[in-house]
Amino acid sequence: MTAATDSMTKASSYPPASIAMHWITALVIAAVFATIEIRGYYPRGSEMRDFLTASHKSLGMLVLLLVLIRINLIAGKSAPPIVPAPPAWQNTLARFIHLTLYAAMIAMPILGWLMTSAKGRPIPFFGLTVAPIISPDKELAHTLEEVHEFIGNALYYVIGLHAAGALVHHYLLKDNTLLRMVRPSR
Ligand code: HEM
Ligand code: HEM
Repeated sequence: MTAATDSMTKASSYPPASIAMHWITALVIAAVFATIEIRGYYPRGSEMRDFLTASHKSLGMLVLLLVLIRINLIAGKSAPPIVPAPPAWQNTLARFIHLTLYAAMIAMPILGWLMTSAKGRPIPFFGLTVAPIISPDKELAHTLEEVHEFIGNALYYVIGLHAAGALVHHYLLKDNTLLRMVRPSR
C-alpha cells in the first residue's frame, strides 16, 4: 500500500447517517425526475399518467422531509477532509454546489406544493393528502409552474456537475472524495 492510499483509508468518512441520507435522497430524487419524464409518454387523463404525477408529488414531498432531517444531522458539523487536499478553488466550488443542492431540495418541493395548491389540485403523499398552502390562483399557478420547471431543468446540470466532480476526483485525481461518501470510517 502506498503512503497516499494508506492515508486515504485512514482518513475519516462522512458519518454513516449522512452517507445513508445522501444515497437515499439521491435515489428518491432520481425517481422524482423519472416519474415526471416518463409521464410525458402517456396521454392526458390516462390512469398511468395520473399515477406518475401523483408519484412525482409524493416523492417530491418526501425529499422535503428527508432534507429537513438531513440538515439537522449535519448542523454544526464540517465535512471530513479530502486526502490529498485539493486546491482551495475546488473546495469553494464543491461548497457552492452543495449549498445550491440543499437550496434546491428545499425550494423545489415548496414550489411544487405552492404550484399545486394554486392550481387547486390534490397534493398526495403516499395515500394521504397534504393540505394546500395557498388558495387557487390560475395566474400565480402558471408563474410557479414556470419557475418549478426552470429550476428543475437547471438541476440536471448542477447534479451532473456534482456527480462528474465526484467521479473525476475518484478516477482521475485518485483522492478519497467519493470513498468518504461511500464507505463509513472503520
Ligand atoms: C425535489 C423535488 C422536486 C423536483 C426536483 C421536481 C422536478 C420537476 C421537474 C423537472 C418537472 C418537469 C419540468 C418540465 O416538464 O420541463 C416537474 C414538473 C412538475 N412538478 Fe415537480 N419536482 C419536485 C417536487 C414537486 C412537488 C412536491 C410537487 C407537488 C406537490 C410537484 C409538482 C409538479 C407538477 C404538477 C409538475 C408538472 C407541471 C405541468 O407540466 O403540469 N413537484 N417537477
Ligand atoms: C450519482 C450521483 C452522485 C454522486 C456520485 C455523488 C457524490 C457525492 C460525494 C462524493 C460527496 C462528498 C463531496 C465532498 O465532500 O466534497 C457528495 C456530497 C453531497 N451530495 Fe452528492 N452525489 C450524487 C448525487 C447527489 C444528489 C442527487 C444530490 C441532491 C440533489 C446530492 C447532494 C449532495 C450534498 C448536499 C452533498 C454535501 C454533503 C452533505 O451534506 O451530505 N448528491 N456527493
